[in-house]
Amino acid sequence: MALLQVRDLTVSFRTSDGLVQAVRGVSFDVQKGRTLGIVGESGSGKTVCTQTLLGLTRGAEVGGTAEFDGQDLLTMTSAQLRRVRGARIAAIFQDPLSSLHPLYRVGWQIVEMIRAHERVSKPAARARAIELLDLVGIPQAASRVDDYPHEFSGGMRQRAMIAMALALNPELIIADEPTTALDATVQAQVIDLLQRLRDEFDSALIIITHDLGVIADMADQVLVMYAGKAVEIADRRTLFYLPHHPYTQGLLESIPGSAGVNEKLRPIPGQPPSLINLPSGCAFHPRCRFVMDRCLTEIPELRTVERGHLSACHLPLDLTGLGSADDSARQQAADAGREKIG
Ligand SMILES: Nc1ncnc2c1ncn2[C@@H]1O[C@H](COP(=O)(O)OP(=O)(O)OP(=O)(O)O)[C@@H](O)[C@H]1O
Ligand SMILES: [Mg+2]
Repeated sequence: MALLQVRDLTVSFRTSDGLVQAVRGVSFDVQKGRTLGIVGESGSGKTVCTQTLLGLTRGAEVGGTAEFDGQDLLTMTSAQLRRVRGARIAAIFQDPLSSLHPLYRVGWQIVEMIRAHERVSKPAARARAIELLDLVGIPQAASRVDDYPHEFSGGMRQRAMIAMALALNPELIIADEPTTALDATVQAQVIDLLQRLRDEFDSALIIITHDLGVIADMADQVLVMYAGKAVEIADRRTLFYLPHHPYTQGLLESIPGSAGVNEKLRPIPGQPPSLINLPSGCAFHPRCRFVMDRCLTEIPELRTVERGHLSACHLPLDLTGLGSADDSARQQAADAGREKIG
């Protein structure tokens, strides 16, 4: 059984402008020791989806189920959730300062985190904090443990946050754009670190990113979100070689470096829709180059293309990877992803 089974998750917010339907019936599984990548343009509901699992979306109306190790996270009391959060499910956010308190020493924060969940002495927890900082690659961890967050560089803060997330050997780590704020070298190091740690602790990992390169580097399964829905779910290889949904194809074609040197990138035309006034039928239809009559009226359900590959599109299922108007552009897009996959 999957470690995490999310079924038909819906999340909406009542605002003065109307009901924002941020997540509209999303289902996915995360297996132990595996990485699920979630991609999609800004505002597609990636963060809301995962923060809801942790009980962090205040004031939202939530539906569906999210069974973690057989227990529904969405019906837990806040006391129960607090015990799960940190200890069994850890989160790493884009901005380390949102997890590190600026006025307390880094090591002290890790020690407190450990002692809030486990009965260990202060010296033992401190030794563990140093060990963790060392593990995530903080040089001279034994002395840097007493630094304040502002004394760390951005990359070091990100590592410290990862150390904190790992302090209790969580079974599931949720990393929401963990590298966006970092330069390319540090980004690669953090990705590498996350991968090694996942393998070492056999944790499951959910990684949220705009960056298909990160997906190509580390995801086993990929969930593509558009306007609050899962539009495609596939293993990484299938996603890059044989995407079915035109939105996924569009994302692949807009990867920097996907087009040849002399080719222009092909960004997906238009903007994602307002989540208050969604288009009729398929929410992607106004931007889709394959739009058909039924797309304007019928919401496509996720259908099985092949075992483990699902797509929410009315196009015939045998059109995987073939949908591009321009075959050479499609090819180059796939190549950019493939280079990384090998
Ligand atoms: N508390 C809230 N009240 C109202 N709307 C919200 C709230 N939180 C999020 N939303 C809306 O929900 C939608 C999904 O937001 P979310 O943060 O999940 O997007 P995202 O996919 O993570 O985007 P990004 O890539 O920019 O991080 C957005 O339209 C956002 O404005
Ligand atoms: Mg987000």
